[in-house]
Amino acid sequence: MATETPQRKLLATLRGQKFDTPPIWLMRQAGRYLPEYRELRAQKGGFLELAYDSDAATEITLQPIRRFGFDGAILFSDILVVPHAMGQDLWFETGEGPRLAPKLTDADWRDFTPMPQRLDPVIETVRKVRAALPAETTFLGFAGSPWTVATYMVAGQGSKDHAEARAMAYGDPSRFGALIDAIVDVTIDYLSRQIAAGVDAVQLFDSWAGSLSPVQFERWVIAPNAAIIAGLKARHPDTPIIGFPKGAGGKLPAYAREIGADAIGLDETVDPIWANASLPQGMPVQGNLDPLALVAGGDALEVAVKQILAAFPDRPHIFNLGHGIVPHAPIAHVEKLLSLVREG
Ligand code: CP3
Repeated sequence: MATETPQRKLLATLRGQKFDTPPIWLMRQAGRYLPEYRELRAQKGGFLELAYDSDAATEITLQPIRRFGFDGAILFSDILVVPHAMGQDLWFETGEGPRLAPKLTDADWRDFTPMPQRLDPVIETVRKVRAALPAETTFLGFAGSPWTVATYMVAGQGSKDHAEARAMAYGDPSRFGALIDAIVDVTIDYLSRQIAAGVDAVQLFDSWAGSLSPVQFERWVIAPNAAIIAGLKARHPDTPIIGFPKGAGGKLPAYAREIGADAIGLDETVDPIWANASLPQGMPVQGNLDPLALVAGGDALEVAVKQILAAFPDRPHIFNLGHGIVPHAPIAHVEKLLSLVREG
C-alpha cells in the first residue's frame, strides 16, 4: 500500500498556499535559550566546534523540532562560514562575538587561500538532518547576503553602524564590488550544495541592509541578492527562496519587486498592515513578532500575536519573529506563542 507523504505546510506556504493557521518557525530557534543546546555546547567547547561537527549540528537542528514541533527546521550553522571558506580566519570570542582576520581594511581577500572544504561538514549536516527530520517538517537552508557578510569581513568583527564597509563601498567601489561579486559566487555554490543535499527552501539573511542609503541599497543589497537568486533559480528552479532585508523599511517594496525571491521576511519594525498593502499581491511574507514581546509574555505577547495574525487575511503568511530569539526568552513563552498561533 502506498503511503502518502504528509504535506509540508511551510513549504506549501512558500509556494503560495494560504492556510487558516500559519506555519511557524523562529529565527535562531536552535540556540542558547534551550538548556539542551547549552549542555551540548559546554561538552564540545564552543560554537564553531558545534557548527563543524555534523553529528552535533544535526542534533542541535533537531532539538527545537523535538521540543516544540515547529513547522520548519533551520540548518544549524552560521553566515560567517562563507568568509571562512574564502580563507579568512574565523573564531568566536566568548561573550563578545565573531572575529575575522586579517580584516579587509588591512588586507586583500584575493591573497587568501580559498578553503572550500571547510563547508563539507555543513553539507554533511544537511544530509543527516534530512534523513532524521519528520516528513511534515520543512527544512530550511540559509546564507548571509553579500552586504551583511562583507560588513564582518571588512571590519573583522560586528560593528555598530558598519562604517568601515560603508566607507570602502564609497571610497573604492570597484574593489568593494569585486568583494561582493566573490561572495555572490561562493554563496550560489554553497546554497546549491545545501539544496542538492536536501534542504526544501533557503533564506538569505541581509541583517544589516538597514544601514545603507537608497542608492547604496540598490547597489549592495538589491543587485547582489538578485544575482544570487538568478544563479540559484538557473540550477534549482523549484526551490523557494526567502529574502530577509532587516531594516529595509520603505525600501521593502522595491526589494520585493526586484530581487526575484519567492517570499519576504519582515523585521519587527515593519507595520504588517502596511506590508500587506504595499508588497506584490499574493507574495508570501514571514514575520514579524518583536523578539522582546516574546520575552515579555502575557498580554503584550497576546496582543502583538493577534495583530500580526489579523494583518494578512488573504496573503500566505509564515509566522516568525522579526529577528532572532534572544537567549533569555522563557521556554514557557515559546510554548504559549505556539498555542496562540495554532489555536487562534
Ligand atoms: O537557529 C538558527 O537560526 C540557525 C543558526 C544560525 C546561527 N546564526 C547560529 C548562531 C543562523 C541562521 C545565524 C545567522 C547569523 N549569524 C546572522 C544573521 C541573522 C541575524 O541574527 O542577524 C548573523 C549576523 C550571524 C553572525 C553571528 N553569529 C554573530 C554576530 C554571532 C554572535 C552574537 C550572538 O548572538 O552570540 C553569532 C553566533 C551564533 N550563531 C550563535 C548561534 C546559535 C551563538 C553562539 C553561542 O554562543 O552559542
